[in-house]
Amino acid sequence: MRPGSRVKLALRRVLPGAVVAWAISARDGRRLRALPSVGVEPGRLRRLTADNLASFLRDVRIGELWNDDSARISTVFEAIDVGDAVNPGDRRALYHLVAATRPLRLLEIGTNIGGSTLALTQAAATHVGDEAMITTVDIVDVNDRTRAASASLASPRTPAENLTLLGLRSRVTFVTARSGDHLRATEQRFDFVLVDGDHSAPAVYQDIVSALGVLAPGGVIVLHDYFPDKSDICGDGAVIGGPFEAVARLVRENPDLSVLPLGSLPWPTKHGSHVTTLAVLTTR
Ligand SMILES: C[S@@+](CC[C@H](N)C(=O)[O-])C[C@H]1O[C@@H](n2cnc3c(N)ncnc32)[C@H](O)[C@@H]1O
Repeated sequence: MRPGSRVKLALRRVLPGAVVAWAISARDGRRLRALPSVGVEPGRLRRLTADNLASFLRDVRIGELWNDDSARISTVFEAIDVGDAVNPGDRRALYHLVAATRPLRLLEIGTNIGGSTLALTQAAATHVGDEAMITTVDIVDVNDRTRAASASLASPRTPAENLTLLGLRSRVTFVTARSGDHLRATEQRFDFVLVDGDHSAPAVYQDIVSALGVLAPGGVIVLHDYFPDKSDICGDGAVIGGPFEAVARLVRENPDLSVLPLGSLPWPTKHGSHVTTLAVLTTR
């Protein structure tokens, strides 16, 4: 371990959590400001309104199919709120978004234990068809059993093993890489991107810029952990500010871009509430 890292670790142990969080947020703010402005092309984004989102979420047929599919998924991955995974209510919202927008090529940044991967892939299989494929990128090898975060949480298996059990493995390509490196190298274009990787403001800024760069016309970009105005919408004090800071800067730089938080879902999410931190990017 480098001497600087040892000092940081020691400071984290003695300083109160709020001071550490403030210091991290201040550092991320400086790093975000240090990034050069990037011209993006929001024009490829699908134009969506709050009414569109409400109708996607309230679609009765999608809800019925979710009931069947979530029962299938829960045979391999429990419908509980665990670790860094997207909570079960948010997984259902992702399922509805895919079912309603019917993307052929999906990209997920941040596989982790594969909670969202299962919902996205099952939605693509049920609602889009045989050609629908998903690429999921994580900086760590999520299918390395010695590192798999999933043991003893929602599932004792790796994401790849769960997909195999559900007959979905062939639809998913796992990439172990930094999201930015992979998106710069890929020639693929995507109809649906979930941004749920590194949540620091500069990283989310760069992930959104990269996602817009690989987006097919009419594509959808969904963000997780978007806390509007960095307010404590989940009521547990665990506010993640990076996605909001990143989007605020992108919207300042690109006035055509806008963000639609999903707000309150028709079903529970965390701590008995219906609030979600999911949001979609769109154009004005
Ligand atoms: C919040 S978790 C994702 C949760 C996941 N969507 C789920 O529902 O299980 C964030 C993940 O992003 C990964 N990550 C962090 N920085 C990254 C980067 N620069 N590129 C790709 N993945 C990254 C982490 O390893 C972690 O697994």
